[in-house]
Amino acid sequence: MEIGAFHYRADTLFCEDVELARVAARFGTPVYVYSRARILANFRRIAGPLGELDGFACYSAKANSSLAILGLLAQAGSGFDIVSGGELTRVLRAGATPGRVVFSGVGKTSDEIDAALAAGVLMLNVESAGELDAVESRARHRGAGRAPVSIRINPDVEADTHPYISTGRTIHKFGVPKADAPELYRRAARSPHLEVRGIACHIGSQILDVEPFLRAADEVLALARDLRSERVATEYLDLGGGFGIPYREEHPFEFSRFFAELERRFCGEGFRPLLEPGRSVVGDAGVLLVRVLYVKGTESKRFIVVDGGMNDLLRPALYGSYHEILALEHRDSERSAADVVGPLCETGDFLARDRSLGEFKPGDLLAVLGSGAYGFVLASNYNSRPKPAEVLIEGAKARLIRRRESADELFAAEIP
Ligand SMILES: Cc1ncc(COP(=O)(O)O)c(C=O)c1O
Repeated sequence: MEIGAFHYRADTLFCEDVELARVAARFGTPVYVYSRARILANFRRIAGPLGELDGFACYSAKANSSLAILGLLAQAGSGFDIVSGGELTRVLRAGATPGRVVFSGVGKTSDEIDAALAAGVLMLNVESAGELDAVESRARHRGAGRAPVSIRINPDVEADTHPYISTGRTIHKFGVPKADAPELYRRAARSPHLEVRGIACHIGSQILDVEPFLRAADEVLALARDLRSERVATEYLDLGGGFGIPYREEHPFEFSRFFAELERRFCGEGFRPLLEPGRSVVGDAGVLLVRVLYVKGTESKRFIVVDGGMNDLLRPALYGSYHEILALEHRDSERSAADVVGPLCETGDFLARDRSLGEFKPGDLLAVLGSGAYGFVLASNYNSRPKPAEVLIEGAKARLIRRRESADELFAAEIP
């Protein structure tokens, strides 16, 4: 049996050639475990065809921004999509090529704009008229050349996903309405402090259907052609990220169809496509390992209490998201409904609800699948719980890439 990067050998769950129970024994739980091979395979599946269209992939650092993973992707030739000064510092520390970094986000501060200009990013994806003014003003103030910009348009495309991660409609805070974009581009093209480099859009996350992406690509291409007719050149067309992954039995995103359609659209146009995949690179390459502490029941429920909770993996509580739960040692036992819950003092602190699961006892180990994206990055210290460790599997080797936070680190920044 094989699930993403994870498979049973006999009845024992492995990641690549490492038995996960050994990782838990060595590094403790809760612990995130990632497969290097799977991350690279996922990345190449996108970067390869994009390269053939003279574009490249900018891995979206927000999905998983651990330095070892950013470094792995930088070495594989990835660019990066960042949304904060912190992410800029991280990707540079990990070895990113600044000329392959795009800076998105609706609320860039002057300091962040200055840092991005000083680093020499490929372009700032500007999300409002006010932000265009701010970038222009920072570039004038710097006096060291033009600031490279693209404008993130809101293509008003409907995509079937959770409302919290849908971004491409006019009710969302992201980008500028497509009708307003031409005037902003004219303004940018006239400015002696700005250099128009591209057009950007991003319609949301965890979208499994190819069609909304093609509709957004058509909007972006139409704008690029209109601008070209006004002699405003937009070399890079950044179509964002958002490619969904199967968390249960969904049909996987059809990358081959998507790229065939992109090729049809981009061929001979002279524009360079960029994509900002996050989840589709790291999502199925990671699991969260947790240990069963107690099993208890009420008249209406069976609860499996584990040592990892919403502070470690927020997605179930935040989006009601589904993560497959597997036992590290598979045993045949009768299945019945159970909630897998964490130790925090919140009813929303669960990893799975009403799931058909076998019998478990204290000490058993569980893997929460599909935790590689928006897992550790959303971890918090709620209830004063230290953030978990992270381990990267490389063939038969397990490498600690983040040690577990210590109790002292919990209040290291505090002034009593
Ligand atoms: C601008 C932008 N680009 C890329 C992404 C990455 O999305 P995903 O991880 O779904 O590929 C996001 C996430 O929402 C985003 O806001």
